[in-house]
Amino acid sequence: MTTPTPSWPTMWHSSGWSLHLPDEGVQSAVAYHGLFLYYATIADGITYAVELGSQYGWSACWIAGAMRDRGLAGLVHCVDHFNEGGVEYQAKWEQNLTRWGVAQWVVPHRGDILEILPTLPGGIQLAFINSWHSRAHLQKELELLCPKLAECSLLCLHDTFNPEFPQYVNFAQFELEQFFPFEGRLDFQEASGFTILSRGHRLRERVSPGPNCVIGD
Ligand SMILES: C[S@@+](CC[C@H](N)C(=O)[O-])C[C@H]1O[C@@H](n2cnc3c(N)ncnc32)[C@H](O)[C@@H]1O
Repeated sequence: MTTPTPSWPTMWHSSGWSLHLPDEGVQSAVAYHGLFLYYATIADGITYAVELGSQYGWSACWIAGAMRDRGLAGLVHCVDHFNEGGVEYQAKWEQNLTRWGVAQWVVPHRGDILEILPTLPGGIQLAFINSWHSRAHLQKELELLCPKLAECSLLCLHDTFNPEFPQYVNFAQFELEQFFPFEGRLDFQEASGFTILSRGHRLRERVSPGPNCVIGD
């Protein structure tokens, strides 16, 4: 009988890195996307990450936590309005980051993503898009973001299999390559979905596909 290949997070989890769950209060988020961001940051020694749509900082905690745990002098730049329908939540975002001991690895950018993106420097090693899920918004984000990605970089997108956003999903499935000519692609199709595109990166060597994880070219 052959031993089954462990799933990628299991593989990394058993590799000795400690895991710090950033926020037990955020139950709706699917663990693998946080795990991926955490382990990718650790494995690649990422020091410059950008999150488009940060809300309460759950994913930012994973990326910043990885920088902390690997002892990196890195920064996650988080862009958000921090206000929805007049309700402010930047203070909650800050509380979460402080509570998990990662505040020194994050920089908030308050405002519209499409206005702030052009002001960020190039050389982004890890970008995570989790903002407004319309086709037009994603296209504009990609147009502004992709020229700023480093030669060796990962581009991650949330909700890429979420049936609530059919046009966004379709765009994410078939049109990303014209903005980011990727070499590796990984699709977690479970729940709302999470897609990772890689360039100049050994994604395929590092990831073991599981039943809900498809590795493309
Ligand atoms: C799904 S939440 C982000 C969740 C976060 N990435 C996490 O994992 O915890 C989406 C966020 O995107 C923000 N957002 C959407 N479109 C935006 C835009 N054009 N400019 C700034 N923020 C935007 C919203 O304010 C909201 O907080």
